[in-house]
Amino acid sequence: MTDTATQPLWEKAISLPKLEDAGKCVVKISGKQILLIKSGDTIHALNNRCPHEGFPLSEGTLSSDDDGRECILTCNWHSWRFNLDDGEAIVGGDAVRLYPHEVRGAEIWLDVSDPPLEIMRRKAIDGLRQAFEEHDYERIAREVARFERAEGDPMEALTLAFSWAMDGLEFGTTHAHAAAPDWLALRNSPAITNPTDKRIPVVEIIGHLSWDCLMQKGPFPYSDEIAKKFDANVFEAAIEEEREAEAVAQARAGLAEGGASLLHGSLQRASLAHYQAFGHSVIYLDKTYELTALLGKPAEEAVILPLVRALCSTAREDLIPEFKAYGPALAGWNSAGNDIPDADGFRDQGVAAAMKLIAASSNTGEALYDALMHAAWDAMLHYDARYRSFTDKPVQQNIDWLDFTHAITHLNAARKNCADQPHLWANALLQTGCFLGRNSKFVDWQQNVDSWGVVDAEPLIGDVLEGMLDHGEPVYIFPAHTLKLATALQEELSIKPDASWKPVALAALNRFVNEPIKRKHMRRVVTQASNFVELEG
Ligand code: FES
Repeated sequence: MTDTATQPLWEKAISLPKLEDAGKCVVKISGKQILLIKSGDTIHALNNRCPHEGFPLSEGTLSSDDDGRECILTCNWHSWRFNLDDGEAIVGGDAVRLYPHEVRGAEIWLDVSDPPLEIMRRKAIDGLRQAFEEHDYERIAREVARFERAEGDPMEALTLAFSWAMDGLEFGTTHAHAAAPDWLALRNSPAITNPTDKRIPVVEIIGHLSWDCLMQKGPFPYSDEIAKKFDANVFEAAIEEEREAEAVAQARAGLAEGGASLLHGSLQRASLAHYQAFGHSVIYLDKTYELTALLGKPAEEAVILPLVRALCSTAREDLIPEFKAYGPALAGWNSAGNDIPDADGFRDQGVAAAMKLIAASSNTGEALYDALMHAAWDAMLHYDARYRSFTDKPVQQNIDWLDFTHAITHLNAARKNCADQPHLWANALLQTGCFLGRNSKFVDWQQNVDSWGVVDAEPLIGDVLEGMLDHGEPVYIFPAHTLKLATALQEELSIKPDASWKPVALAALNRFVNEPIKRKHMRRVVTQASNFVELEG
């Protein structure tokens, strides 16, 4: 294949009388199966493989258009219909490829040359856009394959998908963005060598983005204003006060002046400013910047503006009574607490007690970080899984695995971002305490967890990550969390291979992947809704 205009490649296909006798026939030329149909004076030449699932269009049914011309072909497997004048699907998705033909004497000749790569790539992207709008996962996979076959860079397809998703997401960044760099890390890992397997993460990211957009029924367009000059203080104040248009105008100016790196410090501060969005802010920030590093400058606006939007619309959990101890603990942080923390000390401690323990250890640096990481994995390992199934509890006790995984992925993201913003450590550590304090009510310390123990990290984490390539979950968000948790553990162990919390972490991950999340709660939802309506009066 070539990236410039191709020379025609004419091949003799079949004699005209033979086609006239048969009405239609399939010829094989250069590995291609080409269907020829003679209808009146017209000859149609097209791929015999239906672009939907490859069944033979030679078994299809020819019918007439509104003008009485026999140019509509229906594939009888799933009723896709093609206009043979241009190959476009009237019903279904992908177009069928047509071949130029000439009658020379008594022979029919076909031009079987491939179109220029540029045209093939453009068609694949057009098809991908349609598949994205409809969340047609199979077609997304086909169009990505076509794009790559035409030597397209899958990172370019991803960048486009992130730009298509922008206006589709009311609250900006979602787990589709957050899981994307972990999918790409998996794609780039030495363990994944098969080209098809390398394509799975790309398809999954696009599918997830498409699904999130479809569910939100946008559009939710961004302001196209751009500030005259980027000002970090104005930017951060706009985020803090949830003035999205102003924050976006500042972000646009910052991107134009210095790129994503110019905004990084402000976004780090904003993402850890409060105990907010159940820890998602710093996770989203961290993954957004990993994504910009992987996709490069062309993707900056498409992934940074959704993060700005997400930060402008966070829920402030530190304002609700359960976490009211967070603010005073942060205000009183003095980095002078020298009590060496013990992970076990966080067991059975509520939010206020966790704040005290952390403040008392505020000068112990890595020991405190390790204790919190240990405590978060420990709580997860001891999750009282009955809470997955209870149907008669109040809504605030709808606690599942993800309440525990976020404590860990939040701390993982915070570690990376506090490395160059050390003053944010207080926020990050106390926010971890909020997770621990809240989750402490939903663990069963008496349960026997010995059977979950795992000796070697690599086989377990490797199996979990490899399993992601065929996870089988219809709802994107659940495998996204498994992927993010396993990746976070892999990252943490890469810098601390002998961490004290390693055995607990491995056991917790092992339990998590073997005790799936309950993904639908019919009795619980109906019971809680009924109770709520009763109380409403
Ligand atoms: S294979 Fe032709 S419509 Fe499905």
